[in-house]
Amino acid sequence: MTVTVYVPRDAGALSLGAGEVAEAIAREAAARGLEMRLVRNGSRGLYWLEPLVEIQTAAGRIAYGPVTPGDVPGLFSGGFLTGGAHPLSLGPTESIPWLASQQRLTFARVGIVDPTSVADYISHGGYQGLRNALSMSPEAIVQAVTDSGLRGRGGAAFPTGIKWKTVLEQSPQQKYVTCNADEGDSGTFSDRMLMEGDPLTLIEGMTIAGIAVGATQGYIYLRAEYPHAYRALNSAIAAAYQARYLGGDVMGSGKRFELEVRLGAGAYICGEETSMLESLEGKRGEVRVRPPLPAIKGLFGRPTIVNNVVTLSTVPTILDRGAEFYKNYGMGKSRGTLPLQLAGNIKRGGLVERAFGVTLREILYDYGGGSASGRPIRTVQVGGPLGAYIPASQFDTAIDYEALTGIGALLGHGGIVVFDDTVDMAQMARYAMEFCAIESCGKCTPCRIGSTRGVEVIDRILGGVESERNVKLLEDLCETMLQGSLCGLGGMTPFPVQSALKHFRDDFRPRTRN
Ligand SMILES: Cc1cc2nc3c(=O)[nH]c(=O)nc-3n(C[C@H](O)[C@H](O)[C@H](O)COP(=O)(O)O)c2cc1C
Ligand code: SF4
Repeated sequence: MTVTVYVPRDAGALSLGAGEVAEAIAREAAARGLEMRLVRNGSRGLYWLEPLVEIQTAAGRIAYGPVTPGDVPGLFSGGFLTGGAHPLSLGPTESIPWLASQQRLTFARVGIVDPTSVADYISHGGYQGLRNALSMSPEAIVQAVTDSGLRGRGGAAFPTGIKWKTVLEQSPQQKYVTCNADEGDSGTFSDRMLMEGDPLTLIEGMTIAGIAVGATQGYIYLRAEYPHAYRALNSAIAAAYQARYLGGDVMGSGKRFELEVRLGAGAYICGEETSMLESLEGKRGEVRVRPPLPAIKGLFGRPTIVNNVVTLSTVPTILDRGAEFYKNYGMGKSRGTLPLQLAGNIKRGGLVERAFGVTLREILYDYGGGSASGRPIRTVQVGGPLGAYIPASQFDTAIDYEALTGIGALLGHGGIVVFDDTVDMAQMARYAMEFCAIESCGKCTPCRIGSTRGVEVIDRILGGVESERNVKLLEDLCETMLQGSLCGLGGMTPFPVQSALKHFRDDFRPRTRN
């Protein structure tokens, strides 16, 4: 029997040498006259073990990692094609505790399937959600999404079913499903991993959305910095068309759904949904004034669903296993699971999908293993560059939208960036203002001017110029930006600044020059 060897083509794994490892494995097998099938899968999300190579054996997959091209001859000599023992062996992949303790629903197939194969997708439960959806009324599909409690994973956590209902209720006309794949937040990579490792799940989710609200055209707005995801999506879309899961007669139902990928313009603000729509229309990415909501007047003035990659990719599970099944995970008003992304100064960074309710401490220490530097973790920034800094004293907070709001923080897209006790929080606050000044679309004054003034005020505090008065001014400025900005960029930049001031006030002392 031909042995199947899995080597990720995930961008993170490639950056750690997975491409060279795949070549070395193919070369070594050819030199030894051994037959094997090389599958380029997605990453399992254990980035400190990448490149992670897996072998399919009768007893399941056996993992080896991190593998370098130089390790490959030794692995073959050790009989790794039959799952043989080797110092790099990690044993059965599914038994690695880091993975075994996760609750992978949205990421169930990532790292497991061949991302380019519809047949492999189906053999792992794919397209069952769409099959069920096609036997339901549009209202029933939307109701199932509502009942599941799914909230948008892009940042705002708005109930997905309510958004879909608004689009469904608009009069029959051209409607659109757009996927926000701009993934601009620092320390986030779940969208990328999903699109590279299991793109058909996103395609299936978007097709279900289209069938539910009567939209025949979908667009994936993908950040241009994701060339590997671009390739993976396009080859999966072509395969789905070929197998008639996309096009004029989806699964023989007579229903149409077309899908295209559009590359983004490389600006953080293009991830904000109305800027994304402007950019999709070929215009400069600038925020639109709301109302009207995109669900009523969105792309080209038509009713449009805008959802994040993870939101849409969660829909097939809900339609396959039922709203009740999904809703049974989680806590409070945060239902289901969230793929958390652990990055920054952390020993074991990667993707952890767990039901809401897990604490920050569990993620940082049980999964992350503490800081990479070995020093105490002082703070984490959750939810991207506009997220608050959470001090160590609050690490027992549950990962739950409401619990984080309760401590003045936000969950956003689930990115967690870790800092040890050498971090200078005044500099981090300055960076937040600087980031906003660079990325501001310029449409409103509190953000455009306020962010630049914010950098100057922090510089005066640190320079010892009327420090107390300028701290007060900084607090006022944050309030103005918070209340007066047109969108979340200017409106949330105060969060990292205010949290740094609140929890790490001592860092805002004047600096002495050497
Ligand atoms: C400045 C800014 C940047 C954003 N960037 C993204 C992004 O990169 N990806 C994303 O899905 N949502 C982003 N959002 C949130 C979107 O505006 C919107 O809420 C989301 O795409 C809706 O999808 P969801 O309901 O599935 O989360 C951003 C919001 C703001 C204010
Ligand atoms: S807050 Fe900033 S990014 Fe948002 S509309 Fe105003 S200027 Fe543009």
